Order: sequence, then C-alpha cells, then structure tokens
Amino acid sequence: MCTPSGVWGIILKDESLIGNLLKRSVVFKSLKFRIFIIVLLVGIIPTSVMRALLIRSYENRAVNQRITDITNQCNILGSRLFEVGFFEDARDELINDELSLLSNLYDGRVLIIDDDFRIIKDTYEMSVGRTMVSKEVIACMNGSSNMNRYDSEHGFVEVTVPVSDTTGKIYGAMVASGSTDYIKTNKVNLDRRAWIVEITVGIFVLVIAYALSSTLLLPFEKVRRAISSAKEGYISELKRVDVPDYTETGEIMDAFYLLLDAIRETDEAREEFVANVSHELKTPLASMKVLSDSIRDSENVPIEMYREFMNDIAEEVDRENRIITDLLEIVKLERKTEKFEPEASDLDGIISDIVKMLEPLAKKRGIGLTYEKLKDVTADVDRLKFSRAIMNIVENAIKYNKDFGWVKIILDGDIQFAAITISDSGIGIPEGSVGKIFDRFYRADKSHSDEIKGNGLGLAISRSTILLHKGSVKVESKEGEGSTFIVKIPLRYEQ
Ligand SMILES: Nc1ncnc2c1ncn2[C@@H]1O[C@H](COP(=O)(O)OP(=O)(O)OP(=O)(O)O)[C@@H](O)[C@H]1O
Ligand SMILES: [Mg+2]
Repeated sequence: MCTPSGVWGIILKDESLIGNLLKRSVVFKSLKFRIFIIVLLVGIIPTSVMRALLIRSYENRAVNQRITDITNQCNILGSRLFEVGFFEDARDELINDELSLLSNLYDGRVLIIDDDFRIIKDTYEMSVGRTMVSKEVIACMNGSSNMNRYDSEHGFVEVTVPVSDTTGKIYGAMVASGSTDYIKTNKVNLDRRAWIVEITVGIFVLVIAYALSSTLLLPFEKVRRAISSAKEGYISELKRVDVPDYTETGEIMDAFYLLLDAIRETDEAREEFVANVSHELKTPLASMKVLSDSIRDSENVPIEMYREFMNDIAEEVDRENRIITDLLEIVKLERKTEKFEPEASDLDGIISDIVKMLEPLAKKRGIGLTYEKLKDVTADVDRLKFSRAIMNIVENAIKYNKDFGWVKIILDGDIQFAAITISDSGIGIPEGSVGKIFDRFYRADKSHSDEIKGNGLGLAISRSTILLHKGSVKVESKEGEGSTFIVKIPLRYEQ
C-alpha cells in the first residue's frame, strides 16, 4: 500500500519518469488539479486508515475474549481433573463429557498431558499415548501460569494451562484450542460495511474537492481576466480592477497596476519625446524656410544681405546638426550600443583639459573659472564620454552665469568614490525645475532660454554617461544665487 508520504513523493518530488511526465503535464501543473487531489487525499486517507484500525482493533478484542473464555474454562476443569485423580485414571465419565462439551463449545480440541509429556486424553481420540513436547507445554510444566497463541492463518487460538494441586505441585498440562472462524466472518462483514461507508465518504469528498478547487480559484480567474484585458493600446483607458478576495490576489493586482503605471509613464515619456524631437527638429527648418523664402521672393537684394541670410541659414543647419548628433548620442548611451571602455584614468588631467577648453568662453564674459584638486584621483572611466559629461555641466555653469561671476571646480575622492563638484554664481534653477533639468529637451526658465542658446540635451547626455559609469549626479540650487552639481563615480568599475 502506498503511504501518505509516498503519495506526496510521487506527486511533488519524484524525479522518476512518471514524476517528470506528471510535472510536465499541463493538468498536473494546474493549481486546481492539485487542490482537488490534496482535498481528495485529505478526505480519503483518514477514512482508509480508520477502516484498517477498526478491523484490527475488533480482531484483537475478539481473539482476546476467545482466549480468556477458553482459559477460564480450562482453569475450572483443570482443578476438577486433579480432584477426581484424572492423571491416575482417565476414564471418569463426567470429566470426559465435560471435556467433549468444552471442545464442541469452542469448535476445537482438548488435550490432557501428564508430567511425562504423554497425552492421556484427546477429545479427537487420535493422539492418546503419544508424547507432546511443545514450548508452551514445557513452559507450563516449569511453572508458567498459562500460555496462548493465535494462528490467524489457520483460524484458531490455542491455550495451554498447567494443572496443579492446592500446594502448587504441577501434575500436567491442558491444551485447548478453539476456532476463530467466526472472527474471520465478522471481519469480512465489518470490512464490507466499512467499504460502503468509505465509498460514500469518498463520493462526498470528491464532490467537495471539485467544488472547493473550482471556487477557491475563482479570484485567480478574475486576476487572469483583469490582466489579459490590459492589451496594447488599451492600457491608458484601462480601469483598475481590484480582486480583494484574498490578500495574495490583492497583492498581485497591486503589483500589476504598479507595473502598468510604469508602462504608462514610459509610454507617455516616449510620446512626449517624439513630440519634442519633431518640434525641435522643425524649428531650425522653419527658420531656414523663412530665410530662403525671403531671399527668393525679394528682387535686387544686395549681396551683403544674401551673405547675412546665408550665414543665418548655415547657423540653423549647424543647430539642426547638433540636435541630431546629441540625440543619437543619447540613444546610443541608453541602448548601450556603443563601445564603453572604462580604463584607469587620472581625473586631474581630464578636468584640466576641460578648463583649458572652456576658459576662452568664460573669459568672454569676465567669469572667473577656477579648479582645485584636493586629492590625486584615478578612476575607471571612458575618457571621451566622461570628459563630455563633465564638460556639459561646466559649460552650463558658464552659460547660465552672470557677467563677471565665478565657476569653481573641485576634485576630491575617498577610497571608494571620486567626487567632482561644480559650483557657480549663476542665475540658479527655479525650485520646480530642479527635478526636470536632466530630462531630454527640458530648459528651465523660459525668459532666459531665448537669450541663451541650447537644445536641452546636454544634461541628459551627462546623466546617461554618469549612470553608465555606475555613478550619480546631484544638484543643489537657489534661484538668483547659483547652483552646485556634485558628480560621484566609483573608482573601480565593476560589471
Ligand atoms: N548651472 C546652471 N545654472 C542654471 N541653470 C542651469 C544650469 N545648468 C543647467 N541649467 C538649466 O537646465 C537646463 C537644461 O540644461 P542642458 O544642459 O540639458 O540643456 P541646455 O544647456 O539648455 O542645452 P544644450 O546643453 O543641449 O546645449 C538649461 O536649459 C538650464 O535652464
Ligand atoms: Mg547645456
């Protein structure tokens, strides 16, 4: 018979062929099926165990009762045997009748054995005069009170009791057997009734298991339907469906809507990006169109004017070109398509080069650009990309500064990180814009945007590059007072 743990072994763990087949089969993977089987087993196993225990306990009780009855009868008759001197003369009629009655009563056989192990009485009259040396008889002759055994296979019990006088002297032994066929018959009847009960319970449990497995999983079906209704293009209009039936289904739906919100945000950002790109690319084109139309439609235009218009057109072409180059740069950085080769680099050298390159721009407006190195710092960076990222921030610090202001760069580091701080005495960033300046095409403070040229892509490139180096960039700013950008990158780049 398969034990309950054996059944689990087959259902849950078995790595055998059948186990694998079960695991792979769609039906077995279904939670509904598993709940069904579990409820079924939980319902049926206890009934089966109870049936087996009931029958075993009935058998034990009935056999013990039979043994007690026969032992009592033997004890009574045993004392009489000694009184009538049966061991000297076994012909006492009354005793012989009572012995026959005893053997008939229990549908068995009675043997009387003297102290020489000789059978002096056999109710079957077959073995008188023979010797009987069984271990039970020997034990009784040696003083054991009584011995008995049950042979379930052949259906009888055998009781052996010593026959002794009042002083305890043993004269012989009495062996009485009794049939237990009626116990077998009762067992069969009992088993049949228990089966009927078990089958009834089984059918009942089957119905309950089916109903439970179906109803328990209804909330998960609701979850499935809610999730499958979130099809592409339908997401923005999707109404929230809560399934609070279980804590788990509630949590699944919460997690699902969080994911959906993230998808929505990405979707909106993508749409906004496309709109921004189209707008930004169209602006220089519109200017070029106006310029070229006005030259075409005017007559007798002086050559200086032609030249001026052509210069303006060339500037717009440059602007268009820069937008496209920057956009491609961002896309490459974010999709990680371009080679990224960080190597141990001296950051002091990189920053000094940037300062050299931007000094003329600062000088033009009387801005003091200073650089201070607090420590020698070597970090794993992609020189070209990292240099561009820092340059964008320093360039902004100059661009969005007041005339005769200052820009200060500080290089520092600890055992783990390199830190570059770029502070300026510029126009600052309005509070509501601080969180957005790294977004693509975002330009804070529209009043300045027209005077100061830019596409709103520089900081987006800087942030993507710094993130690629597994670093971070933070801003602190006060409108009208200035801004501080803090860039931190790990000294060792680890994949
Ligand atoms: N140091 C700063 N002080 C004040 N405002 C700043 C500073 N740095 C950035 N900003 C604001 O953040 C916006 C975004 O900067 P970003 O460098 O991305 O774009 P941009 O400078 O306008 O154009 P681009 O760098 O692409 O030529 C700027 O338009 C500006 O409003
Ligand atoms: Mg910029």
